[in-house]
Amino acid sequence: MSTEDCRIIQLPRISDARGSLSFVEGGQHIPFDIERIYYLYDIPGGAARGAHAHKALQQLIVPIAGSFEVVLDDGRSQRKFFLDRPDQGLYVCPMMWRELGNFSAGAVCMVLASRKYEESDYFREYDTFLKVAIGEK
Ligand code: TYD
Repeated sequence: MSTEDCRIIQLPRISDARGSLSFVEGGQHIPFDIERIYYLYDIPGGAARGAHAHKALQQLIVPIAGSFEVVLDDGRSQRKFFLDRPDQGLYVCPMMWRELGNFSAGAVCMVLASRKYEESDYFREYDTFLKVAIGEK
């Protein structure tokens, strides 16, 4: 997997005088079925999240409120994304080290995930991730 397999996905947005509505259907707007949703909120200024990779998990990261940055690293190259639109999400494929930071005040980060939580799916040490990521290329 490479950072080129990750991308911003434009979600439907239905806007009228009452406001806007966006939605995500698993397998339709994103290339996986949704098995889990989690969200980050009450994030203190200067906090960083992530700093891990997943072996098999696919995710869509959506800035429901506010903004933040996501840096993706496949072991060879990095790409940085600035997320600030609730009608756009970042698709993150497996084997991608990710770091989230520069959260604005009140930011809410929603993550749609292809699998239930499994600690065994994580690489939490960058060196271990790198060996496997580089080894597979
Ligand atoms: P972690 O994935 O390390 O968070 P982040 O990437 O935002 O820094 O998870 C933080 C803690 O929450 C860790 O103890 C595992 C737990 N957790 C769950 O129990 N279920 C979940 O779905 C998630 C995402 C985390």
